[in-house]
Amino acid sequence: MPCPSRSDELVFFVNGRKVSVGYRHHVRLTGTKYACGRGGCGACTVMVSKRDPTSQEIRHFSVTACLVPICSLYGAAVTTVEGVGSIKTRLHPVQERIAKSHGTQCGFCTPGMVMSMYTLLRNHPQPSEEQLLEALAGNLCRCTGYRPILASGKTFCLESNGCQQKGTGKCCLDLGENDSSSLGRKSDICTELFVKEEFQPLDPTQELIFPPELLRMAEDPEKRTLTFHGERVTWISPGTFKDLLELKAKHPEAPLILGNTSLGPAMRSKGHFHPILLSPARISELNVVSKTNDGLTIGAGCSLAHVKDILAERVSELPEEKTQTYRALLKHLKSLAGQQIRNMASLGGHIISRHSYSDLNPILAVGNTTLNLTSEEGTRRIPLSEHFLAGLASADLKPEEILESVYIPHSQKWEFVSAFRQAQCQHNALPDVNAGMRVLFKEGTDIIEDLSITYGGVGAATVSAHKSCQQLLGRQWDELMLDEACRRLLDEVSLPGWAPGGRVEFKRTLVVSFFFKFYLQVLQELKKLIKPFPVPVSSLNSRHYPEISDRFLSALEDFPGTVPQGVQRYQSVDSHQPLQDPVGRPVMHLSGLKHATGEAEFCDDIPMVDKELHMALVTSTRAYAKIISIDLSKALEIPGVVDVITAKDIPGTNGTEDDKLLAVDEVLCVGQIICAVVAETDVQAKRAIEKIKITYEELEPIIFTIEDAIKHNSFLCPEKKLEQGNIEEAFEKVDQIVEGEVHVGGQEHFYMETQRVLVIPKTEDKELDIYVSTQDPAHVQKTVSSTLHIPINRITCHVKRVGGGFGGKIGRPAVFGAIAAVGALKTGHPIRLVLDREDDMLITGGRHPLFGKYKVGFMNNGRIKALDIECFINGGCTLDDSELVTEFLILKLENAYKIRNLRFRGRACLTNLPSNTAFRGFGFPQGTLVTESCITAVAAKCGLPPEKIREKNMYQTVDKTIYKQAFNPESLIRCWNECLDTSSFHNRRMQVEEFNKKNYWKKRGIAVIPMKFSVGFAATSYHQAAALVHIYTDGSVLVTHGGNELGQGIHTKMLQVASRELKIPMSYLHICETSTATVPNTIATAASIGADTNGRAVQNACQILLKRLEPIIKKNPEGTWEEWIEAAFEQRISLSATGYFRGYKAFMDWEKGEGDPFPYYVYGAACSEVEIDCLTGAHKKIRTDIVMDACCSLNPAIDIGQIEGAFIQGMGLYTTEELKYSPEGVLYSRGPDEYKIPTISDVPEEFNVSLLPSSQTPLTIYSSKGLGESGMFLGSSVFFAITDAVAAARKERDIAEDFTVKSPATPEWVRMACADRFTEMVWNYRLFF
Ligand SMILES: Cc1cc2nc3c(=O)[nH]c(=O)nc-3n(C[C@H](O)[C@H](O)[C@H](O)COP(=O)(O)OP(=O)(O)OC[C@H]3O[C@@H](n4cnc5c(N)ncnc54)[C@H](O)[C@@H]3O)c2cc1C
Ligand code: FES
Ligand code: FES
Repeated sequence: MPCPSRSDELVFFVNGRKVSVGYRHHVRLTGTKYACGRGGCGACTVMVSKRDPTSQEIRHFSVTACLVPICSLYGAAVTTVEGVGSIKTRLHPVQERIAKSHGTQCGFCTPGMVMSMYTLLRNHPQPSEEQLLEALAGNLCRCTGYRPILASGKTFCLESNGCQQKGTGKCCLDLGENDSSSLGRKSDICTELFVKEEFQPLDPTQELIFPPELLRMAEDPEKRTLTFHGERVTWISPGTFKDLLELKAKHPEAPLILGNTSLGPAMRSKGHFHPILLSPARISELNVVSKTNDGLTIGAGCSLAHVKDILAERVSELPEEKTQTYRALLKHLKSLAGQQIRNMASLGGHIISRHSYSDLNPILAVGNTTLNLTSEEGTRRIPLSEHFLAGLASADLKPEEILESVYIPHSQKWEFVSAFRQAQCQHNALPDVNAGMRVLFKEGTDIIEDLSITYGGVGAATVSAHKSCQQLLGRQWDELMLDEACRRLLDEVSLPGWAPGGRVEFKRTLVVSFFFKFYLQVLQELKKLIKPFPVPVSSLNSRHYPEISDRFLSALEDFPGTVPQGVQRYQSVDSHQPLQDPVGRPVMHLSGLKHATGEAEFCDDIPMVDKELHMALVTSTRAYAKIISIDLSKALEIPGVVDVITAKDIPGTNGTEDDKLLAVDEVLCVGQIICAVVAETDVQAKRAIEKIKITYEELEPIIFTIEDAIKHNSFLCPEKKLEQGNIEEAFEKVDQIVEGEVHVGGQEHFYMETQRVLVIPKTEDKELDIYVSTQDPAHVQKTVSSTLHIPINRITCHVKRVGGGFGGKIGRPAVFGAIAAVGALKTGHPIRLVLDREDDMLITGGRHPLFGKYKVGFMNNGRIKALDIECFINGGCTLDDSELVTEFLILKLENAYKIRNLRFRGRACLTNLPSNTAFRGFGFPQGTLVTESCITAVAAKCGLPPEKIREKNMYQTVDKTIYKQAFNPESLIRCWNECLDTSSFHNRRMQVEEFNKKNYWKKRGIAVIPMKFSVGFAATSYHQAAALVHIYTDGSVLVTHGGNELGQGIHTKMLQVASRELKIPMSYLHICETSTATVPNTIATAASIGADTNGRAVQNACQILLKRLEPIIKKNPEGTWEEWIEAAFEQRISLSATGYFRGYKAFMDWEKGEGDPFPYYVYGAACSEVEIDCLTGAHKKIRTDIVMDACCSLNPAIDIGQIEGAFIQGMGLYTTEELKYSPEGVLYSRGPDEYKIPTISDVPEEFNVSLLPSSQTPLTIYSSKGLGESGMFLGSSVFFAITDAVAAARKERDIAEDFTVKSPATPEWVRMACADRFTEMVWNYRLFF
């Protein structure tokens, strides 16, 4: 068996071309994005095509490129987004439709979405909506809220509303009214955001063919062992099974690499290293599938996606009683990871990895699965038993053995198998706990003959409750057995405090809750089995089969994955508006098509520049410590390492006294940057980091929580306070007083594009060009200037586009830019710094967690007379924006309510966590949750529905806020009423109550939340903007302004403005980038006001230009734009103008508690309905209706996109996104596995958004409103619907309805709040034994 020292030729194709190296940077195919590196986000999705040796067919499947070892591509054809279509040649319908359906915002996720959809269409040109949902479930998007992405995909689906009439691209529902200007319009309200008729049809014959060279290779497969040598790793791919066994005997320690979805992440984040990897990809024996009368043997090399198909086929062929295990496996295969991972991961790899969270092993174990092992010594079979799963040597593979196949027997009559799983989200999330359960009854009886139960997620390995099962043999399937089983299970599945992921009580509750579900399921099945018996069998009497009341049946149903539907309504433009004027129309994002083809260039897509070096950051591993020494010597010895940058290398200022760029003597949190390695490659730089030795001396006190900070009086700034009326006096006069506490967790920005910067030093005059992903290039420029001690005019920051910011790219990019600039200055080389997802999450803070206390006094009719709220936010270790966030929080706390006697106080706590910073909504989403929770508490005390209390206390007429700013709440009330109306709230409230009466284990909740959101900054100087507009002699126009394109469509809106002002089509206009050289001294693009202020500046510049052109136009009114421009040039009229917007006056006098801090308000209301599973804590979102006052939207598609995206992000904040830290302050949740942002399956089943028609006019550009942030808080309607459902469960169970409000309302919180006999068992467990 040869293993040559020279590498074989690695043959594979990319986009139809033969290549032999990596395809992102080396082949310069940067369309494939890199966002997590762990297979969890789908940004890097590409399609792999291979010829299946068994079926001889070409298989196309999506994979996450970040986990695909290049050597595994031998003989494969890879299609990246660039191979699908291009704006330069031909767009693919998938690309065209995702862009035109407004499915792209920042565009960083878009190539991955396109590839997932494209692969689906290669396999199913007319997929079902369910297939579409399944194909996209592994792709994350942080901007859009997924609805428009789904809308684009649905246009390919057979049964969709936008159905493809025999490939014409036309929808049967719309035939006859295809006027593109009508856009689904009824009266002046539109319900369509794009024109389906424009779409080119899908023509499968136009796709790239499988390369003939690869086909020939597949027809006559190479039997030789192929060896590929890397720098440190050798990849060996045998051509025959015999060679594989021989190699395994020779290298027993070498892992077999199949999908690399287990090995890959471990090598990346746990530092596992394997010098030799054995690839059995060419061994057909590992892909054999054979069916017998007793069971199914599946080759260990089969992918999980293939296993799913095989099982589905068997289920359709065999009677139900034989397929119990297969059905259970299928259930979990639907939710296990995303489609890409299922395409890559192998059955063998899954079993052998023995992850404690494995979804399949618990079922395979109870299903009496056998593992067929082979080595040079021969074959043998071992059971997939608890001992195997625990890794006992006696029950395990020998190092030289491989798993050839897996035998899964059929189930039999009187045997029942079920699978259970609970995760943070329904799909694409690792389970918290899962289980496989099987029971076999003595034929014709309910006597347990055999019972197996295994759990995942409760220990270091999958755990079997063998002892409990043995003790229950011979027992009847009844309530007594159930009770005893639960107690025994709790005893046996002991779950130590260190159990993976913690949450011990929740997991223990799931252990018994799952068994209860199993008990009910089996009881149901037994009932069905009895019926056919003509003569009652003695042991089968009704005593053993008590009717399960209909109310309890709800425990049995799982939440099905439903494809979201919905309507978006907006007011159409005035019928007199010229067709050419794009303002108010749903114009596609300027970069939409480029996003979809991967041609939109992000910071890290900039080609490598001459002599470029890479930088990696060294961060503190201690929360609060003195730095005793830093030893760089070993790192500097690593080949390729050029230098290590420390604070001593900074020629200018090292940040501020309290917030250093690079730590000097002391560190204040885990993740604080200490120094930075500069090396030739990023791999070398990261390797060197490991070699830097830092010794610390721990300091005290270490503070992580708000509670600890309060105890230690540890605050970042003085208290902020607003007060009105006489609160003490008011409390004395009220009927009732309630006090409560609210905890709101923090939130990670999770922009898809992590922080990145490229600094290019120039040879002359200390000039630097900085390409950076930021919301505030002027801040980066200023910080670099002070750090390097170079005047600002030598530094130019460029921002082409940002892959999502959400506030997280306002302050921090300056730190990364400055450190990279120090490296560039010291080494004289360009420096590229790209943060990994783990580092990004570790180093940068996010939304401030909040702890709020309220005391509310009210009358029995629900009128609130006095409200006292005190909030503390966790600011982390430096001030950053914490004082401002506290101020905004206090200013916005009253939300939509007029309460005469108020006191709001807020403080930012100083703790040893990374500094928290700006995040969409800037304190409002956290603070207002306290206010709304307080309203809910009042409602509970008054015995009235919360919406009544909301209505009763809402502003009704022109009034003044707590800080004495006058405003008119008319639009607020209109939004509220319209939301109640369009959602049929009152009817549905009754239906919810009806449902709750009929169902014990499932409860529904509904909530409607009003919103008054103030836009802008509370300081006049922040409301200025500038623009520079050049008209060139050919008539084309270049617009530059101070806003940054973060995905929010600001550039699109600016061109709409310029188009209207200059009265020329948008095609004449262009925006290249935001640059500090063209528009200086810009304000951060934030606070929802960017399009407004910059729009005014663009408008001003255009008006100046038009004024200059007026005499020429007057002279030649019939002339063309080009002629006028030519004439202007001839007449020496300047064709370049600076526009300026002097801004809104905004101020706040905190001494007096008075001011005019905000230019205007956005009003809205959202109604959400959910259903919770009281036994698991899971929930499904049944419906959401949002009504938002956008006034005269500049671009309804973009604005609706902002509302939907913010809403889904808010939903994540309030339901799934949970930051977890170790007791030492190390952030655990550092990637998409541990930190769950909403996926496409989390979108409400019905999701309707309406822009309030003809609302009042603010003094903004064309009376539009900034909608970037406000939708975030409306996500709380889901939270309050969940708490409404929990309250219904608690009421029925006779438990106090006033419970501590905690956000996010995770499955853990919901489950434990719905206390019942099982939670009781867990709490009282020790009393039983
Ligand atoms: C983003 C993501 C999400 C995921 N979500 C889930 C989830 O929700 N639920 C869940 O259960 N799992 C989940 N997983 C885990 C996934 O199921 C496993 O990683 C996968 O099944 C492993 O298969 P593989 O082919 O990639 O293994 P590889 O990584 O290629 O190999 C894993 C190990 O198996 C050994 N091995 C492989 N085949 C054989 C063989 N034939 N004989 C002997 N040894 C062999 C290898 O030596 C290696 O040690 C997720 C993984 C990722 C990356
Ligand atoms: S899945 Fe590959 S980068 Fe996230
Ligand atoms: S558009 Fe999807 S992440 Fe930005």
